[in-house]
Amino acid sequence: MQILRGDAATPSILLARAADGAAEPSLSAAEATGAWKAWRKLVKTVSPEEIVRKITASGLRGRGGAGFPTGQKWAACASQPPGIRYAVANGFEADPGAQLDRTLMERDPHAVLEGLAFAAFAVGAHQAYVVVKSTAVVAVRRLRDALRAAEEEGLLGSDVLGSGFDLHVEVREIQGANVLGEETVLLRAIEDKRAQPDQRPPYPAEKGLWDKPTVVNNVETLAAVPWILGNGAEAFSKIGLASAPGTTLVQIGGAVKQPGIAEVVLGTTVSDLVKLAGGPSGTLKAVLVGGPSGGFLPPSELDVPLEPGALRDRGALWGSGTVLVVDDRACIVDLASLMTRFLNDEACGKTIPCRIGLRRLAEIGDRLTTGHARPDDVQLATDLSSDTRDAALCGLERSAPNPLMSGMRYFMPEFEDHIVRGICPAGVCQPLRVAAGAAQ
Ligand SMILES: Cc1cc2nc3c(=O)[nH]c(=O)nc-3n(C[C@H](O)[C@H](O)[C@H](O)COP(=O)(O)O)c2cc1C
Repeated sequence: MQILRGDAATPSILLARAADGAAEPSLSAAEATGAWKAWRKLVKTVSPEEIVRKITASGLRGRGGAGFPTGQKWAACASQPPGIRYAVANGFEADPGAQLDRTLMERDPHAVLEGLAFAAFAVGAHQAYVVVKSTAVVAVRRLRDALRAAEEEGLLGSDVLGSGFDLHVEVREIQGANVLGEETVLLRAIEDKRAQPDQRPPYPAEKGLWDKPTVVNNVETLAAVPWILGNGAEAFSKIGLASAPGTTLVQIGGAVKQPGIAEVVLGTTVSDLVKLAGGPSGTLKAVLVGGPSGGFLPPSELDVPLEPGALRDRGALWGSGTVLVVDDRACIVDLASLMTRFLNDEACGKTIPCRIGLRRLAEIGDRLTTGHARPDDVQLATDLSSDTRDAALCGLERSAPNPLMSGMRYFMPEFEDHIVRGICPAGVCQPLRVAAGAAQ
């Protein structure tokens, strides 16, 4: 995937070593540009508590979707009673089409491994895993090559750099549905158990892999850690938003002139992201922010900054960091229904809201797009969404109503066309009639 040039003022934290995707990332080349420098220095000179303090002071928040403060998570894990702990890098990248984490792991596997090493050191874990989708074959191979090189250099393994700290890392391939990316499901997959979520609390930081305290972080979160520890927590905390500092990777696709991946500061508006990708390739109708369980925003809402709270307030999601631009040839009812059906198919069905609630929601979507809508479908979808969210066990159920709910919030006339008038103005849904004069 093409790397888009961001604002020249944006510091390159995540893509500094990642620009050339064709080159195999060697340890010596990575070290020449700063990889493992912080680890070499700090693993022998600084305490785990100090690492947690620095990460907390940096304000780093998780890039896996929820934006949870990383230092707080590490502190919670580190403060558990003495015993075995684990550290896990979540590189599953659940959302279809998302290639952000994969790009990072392919182009800079050392940043991910170094960040994971710090996470393990901070919480006192001696075994760590990088979990990757088995179809991400290049990422898996490059991570394994990088791991082997780091072990041969003494950066990982037994008695790291003569520090007395042991850290064994395994790259674990898994394959399965979208829900596998959810942290408790991911942990069950590592244990070779049925991939279904657990009730939280207790969070993995208290009770994770094999019931031991486990810190789970997204690979992008971890890749920022060496930069923070090398350049200082304060320097990081001053980048972007005070409430969510640093940079993040975003993938902008759909109806744009130049789709690709960019590194931007948190707080960049969705409208600026569309511009970064060369602008819309047609007449902009909506932007789906946050992947299949994200929300559709109309052009009037695109001044929203990339920040978990602001996006949530407008009905969207940070989620996977993908931004899909939709032009006026698309039907929002059709797209929202497609996302709902996908999430229903990918859900594990452990709970009744998940097993039955999402199915009923998907059936409503199917009715709307096939000319079988019932007069009370809007109310039914709204009630069902709110019940499903309230009773959700995991984030999949909680966010699955987003596409339909955001669609109805901002594009109600298009829904009414389908339900009341039996018309699909965009001419996408069959066998609904196309409005007179609409483009086909
Ligand atoms: C359905 C679902 C899918 C998820 N997929 C991913 C994923 O692919 N990668 C990821 O890092 N986090 C994913 N998450 C979030 C994780 O549960 C977890 O919050 C994250 O890995 C924690 O890392 P962070 O604190 O660094 O963000 C998913 C959550 C849900 C509910």
